[in-house]
Amino acid sequence: MRTENGQIIHLADYRQTDFVLERVDLTFELDPTETKVEARLIFHRREGADTAAPLVLDGDELVMTGLLFDQMEMDAARYDATPDSLTIRDLPASEPFEITITTMINPEANTQLMGLYRSNGVYCTQCEAEGFRRITYFPDRPDVLAVYTVNIIADKASCPLLLSNGNFLGGAGYGEGKHFAAWFDPHPKPSYLFALVAGDLGVVEDAFTTMSGREVTLKIYVEHGKEARAAYAMDALKRSMKWDEEVFGREYDLDIFMIVAVSDFNMGAMENKGLNVFNDKYVLADPETATDQDYANIEAIIAHEYFHNWTGNRVTCRDWFQLCLKEGLTVYRDHEFSADQRSRPVKRIAEVRHLKSEQFPEDAGPLAHPVRPTKYREINNFYTTTVYEKGSEVTRMIATIVGKDGFKKGMDLYFERHDGDAATIEDFVKCFEDANGVDLAQFSLWYHQAGTPLVSVSCAYDQAKGEFTLSLEQMIPPTPGQSIKEPMHIPLRFGLLLEDGSEAKVAAVSGADITGDVLHLKERRQTVTFSGIPSRPVLVLNRSFSAPVNLHFEQAPADLAHIARHDSDLFSRWQALNDLALPSLVEAASKARAGETVETSAMLADTLIAIAGDENLEPAFRAQALALPSESDIARELGSNNDPDAIRTGREAVLAFIANRGAEVFATLFERHRTQGAFTPDAANAGQRALRNAALSYLAVSDGTPARAAEAFASADNMTDLSAALTVLAHRFPAATETAQALESFRARFADNALVIDKWFAIQSTIPGDGALARVQALMTSPHFTKSNPNRVRALVGAFAFSNPTGFNRADGAGYRFLAEQILEIDPKNPQLAARILTSMRSWRALEAVRSDHARNAFRTIAAGEKLSSDVSDIVERMLK
Ligand code: ARG
Ligand code: ZN
Repeated sequence: MRTENGQIIHLADYRQTDFVLERVDLTFELDPTETKVEARLIFHRREGADTAAPLVLDGDELVMTGLLFDQMEMDAARYDATPDSLTIRDLPASEPFEITITTMINPEANTQLMGLYRSNGVYCTQCEAEGFRRITYFPDRPDVLAVYTVNIIADKASCPLLLSNGNFLGGAGYGEGKHFAAWFDPHPKPSYLFALVAGDLGVVEDAFTTMSGREVTLKIYVEHGKEARAAYAMDALKRSMKWDEEVFGREYDLDIFMIVAVSDFNMGAMENKGLNVFNDKYVLADPETATDQDYANIEAIIAHEYFHNWTGNRVTCRDWFQLCLKEGLTVYRDHEFSADQRSRPVKRIAEVRHLKSEQFPEDAGPLAHPVRPTKYREINNFYTTTVYEKGSEVTRMIATIVGKDGFKKGMDLYFERHDGDAATIEDFVKCFEDANGVDLAQFSLWYHQAGTPLVSVSCAYDQAKGEFTLSLEQMIPPTPGQSIKEPMHIPLRFGLLLEDGSEAKVAAVSGADITGDVLHLKERRQTVTFSGIPSRPVLVLNRSFSAPVNLHFEQAPADLAHIARHDSDLFSRWQALNDLALPSLVEAASKARAGETVETSAMLADTLIAIAGDENLEPAFRAQALALPSESDIARELGSNNDPDAIRTGREAVLAFIANRGAEVFATLFERHRTQGAFTPDAANAGQRALRNAALSYLAVSDGTPARAAEAFASADNMTDLSAALTVLAHRFPAATETAQALESFRARFADNALVIDKWFAIQSTIPGDGALARVQALMTSPHFTKSNPNRVRALVGAFAFSNPTGFNRADGAGYRFLAEQILEIDPKNPQLAARILTSMRSWRALEAVRSDHARNAFRTIAAGEKLSSDVSDIVERMLK
């Protein structure tokens, strides 16, 4: 583990390697504690490189037991080896040479889950970003691409399965109960895409015929006995392959595509060439154990990793500063895929909810950074929602600016120009400029300037002239290291909605570029005049969330209600409801904090209830409409000096008002929207369940008793309904006997299914209020809990810190002290996991003084810890800056 505090790496310091790597031959002799790795690397000095330059290879905790130069033992005077680097001098000026390195590694002891490790007896690897250097000394950077051959030798009985990237070459016995297999990957790749898996697993097999008629074998490997639960993942994989052919013209390029599900994994999944490794949470599903959300996540992540084959693998990143080149683009592609498979507006609403609740706070706090950062200390800490989700939004804006066909043309050019390359964001943007004859120079600021832009809007209508005037002003808030910002190119989709719900036809516009329904805001301040408008229109701005900005627009509640009921864009209807609700919730929080009674506007409640009951609208949309802005949405809107208890008290009062006023409608919805027949995870059925469960959560408030939720729990025949009912019971009636009984029956029924037990942990750790900490601490002693599995830690500690605002942010600071303790305990074993959970405190500066003092002290406690990893110390340092 890298305990020394890493140096800061700067984008400006990028330079090519002095040596070109031609080929890689790896041989693994697998053993749980003493695995021998032999790496044969063929290099030549790059033309023009300094002929005296040594070869410097990266390592991390490595032990070298042999080093050959052109098959002969290397003279000790020519090299220096430390656990984290190998330097070799006096190398040939131009002819190729071969270095053979032998290292010994201990997969069993690898608790940080980077490099080669064991998960439930299965050998597996995670190399992105810098895990390969924990296997052998190597130029471990994404711009070093080579062709790999991999030989794996292992015990035949415990590891009947030996997998690596590419196509299978052959295998045979190897004496003494061992066997071996050889794999060859013809596509040059960087080391972060290397993978090896060995163990005893079950398999689901299928096939896909590509658009040019090639037959590809598809295999998903899971623990024995869980094969049936991989069927949905397989279906999602085939749909992804088809979609990438149809939408982007991208075909798969090997004879076989494999996915392996493992139970210990730091992230969601990994796109290793031809051999994706997944957190089993994003593979395994059946109606009894997976929720509709689980199914949707599986579909999205299977697609995401598959799409990386072109956006990430065929075209990779020059350096880790370009991470968004593959991640932002691939998230955009998986979002589009899900939108095509499901309901586009509902998908968009869910994406925007996620963006606002995760990325906006990151962009507004001490961890804010540009989509393409220019420096980092620990790259693992840059797999962020800014790089991924804001990166996707930036890609979406390019598509908005150049149009659907223009986007396809730009992507075609990108693949044509850069297939086989390690590219940069500049390369990517240039393809859209060249393919469409547009200038994206100002637009590119989206990659470089951190912070969520704030667009202030005001408008006026002149009846006599028939003119509608819109004034816009953009402001990009200061973020760490960036105090002054340039105005950006913000593409805003808009409409002018007339009283009858139709759209005003604009005769002429002055003051802005408008293409179709997109207004291009480029100046700091812009005034736009629309003429020929017959009556006062209602402005609908940022339709489908065309730009990831905050709008400051005091739109009259009646106008918002008009949009909510009549706009043609379902997303905007949801947005208007949200904009209608948020000021009420903010006001409710202030009233609650001042000890005053909260009053809720009847207009808000009635608009919401009317939409909920409108059978012409799709149920999934109505469920989204019913979900009020969250406590953290309200905190973000308030901005500073936040008191999470007051926020909750205020929100609860508004919620109760709506629940009581709409009780009859909710009861009808609850009865009417039962899904019929056998469970299917499709979007339409999932929408029915979402609406019914949203109704149930309001009914629990108006009923005031757990009876209905207990009944729903007892009669549920799928995990979506079962866990929704359990959540209502636990969160609304934590002390009720019904709740205790339901929790225990759930635990007993799923005791041997860790992924379901994770839901049981998360439901309890998110029960609001001061009692949460004691509950979490008690659950940590449960036999179901283990600190060594990242999914368990995230379900219990992570859910508490990220998703329980009142429980975690206790006024006495006990939540923060608990988290500090946990971080110090997890960090020595798994620094990535520790650092990730610590980011839950990214909004600490927006808390009121008592809490923020406690939070600061918790950071200081962590900072004083011995031998902090660079992952955790990097986060703590930025949090305190
Ligand atoms: N590239 C993976 C993805 O599909 C994520 C891997 C992140 N790994 C890490 N150690 N940070 O998004
Ligand atoms: Zn990815």
